[in-house]
Amino acid sequence: MATGTNPRDIAVPDGEFPFTWHDFRQIAELVHSEAGIVLAETKVNLVYSRLAKRLRAIGLRNFRDYCALVQGVDGIDERQAMISAMTTNVTRFFRESHHFDYLRTEVLPDLLDAARKGGKIRIWSAGSSSGEEAYSIALTILALDPNAAERDIRILASDIDPEMLRRGSNGVYPVAQMGDIPLELRRKWFAPVQGSGGAELEVGPEMHELVRFRELNLLREWPMKGRFEIIFCRNVMIYFDDETQSTVWDRFAGLLRPGGTLCIGHSERIILGSHPYDLVGQTIYRRHGAR
Ligand SMILES: C[S@@+](CC[C@H](N)C(=O)[O-])C[C@H]1O[C@@H](n2cnc3c(N)ncnc32)[C@H](O)[C@@H]1O
Repeated sequence: MATGTNPRDIAVPDGEFPFTWHDFRQIAELVHSEAGIVLAETKVNLVYSRLAKRLRAIGLRNFRDYCALVQGVDGIDERQAMISAMTTNVTRFFRESHHFDYLRTEVLPDLLDAARKGGKIRIWSAGSSSGEEAYSIALTILALDPNAAERDIRILASDIDPEMLRRGSNGVYPVAQMGDIPLELRRKWFAPVQGSGGAELEVGPEMHELVRFRELNLLREWPMKGRFEIIFCRNVMIYFDDETQSTVWDRFAGLLRPGGTLCIGHSERIILGSHPYDLVGQTIYRRHGAR
């Protein structure tokens, strides 16, 4: 314990690094203002254990110095590393599979008809983590139209965490995590990774063509100009406060074509009447206006 620190100010007793409630509040404020993520006091042990790894990595001995670093002008890189450490990146192929069933039966048939006649389709996986969500959308499209990669169809996969984006663009996944991908799709659109002994598969050229990864913080400027037919933003807003969620739902509406589809996570809700959407399925919303 640092000299003169009141034991009641210590947030995590017996930790390897001194961590006070003052340190916790500074980190929570920074993570909230940079990424929108709310860290309640109940998350104190999680914050400690995830950031203790950062202190070890950069050779600091206490959180007071760490807070000074991430708040300072020279701390940009470590601030990014801190945000990455504080994000939860859990995802998997065909997670919440009813969204992909809805795309296959209700949304994609008309859109793909239009694409075959030269129309363009833009889809956004916002908070894509390591790409499984965007590739699941690509697989749903390829199952309906095996020539989709030759058409004007793009899926933007964006996230705040550069390491997740690197994994996504790499497109290599352990077979053990691919159980939810129908076997025929796995065989057709993935290739075995040389030297992995069959333990890993890589997305094929068609999926690389369809999906583009970009770093994007949902709290900041969005550089995209065109409108999207479909937006997936699932299991991202749960980490944000109500006001931030409300702002982002409205900003999505500004980028969705009238009649476009927004899929959100199973524990997320949009308050109907406050935003320009109708609920059309379980956690599936349609933007007001005719297609
Ligand atoms: C739990 S994952 C969800 C992945 C995927 N959408 C799914 O449902 O499986 C949440 C993702 O949101 C990203 N995220 C958190 N805050 C963000 C922000 N402000 N801007 C963009 N992405 C953010 C995290 O980096 C993380 O990869």
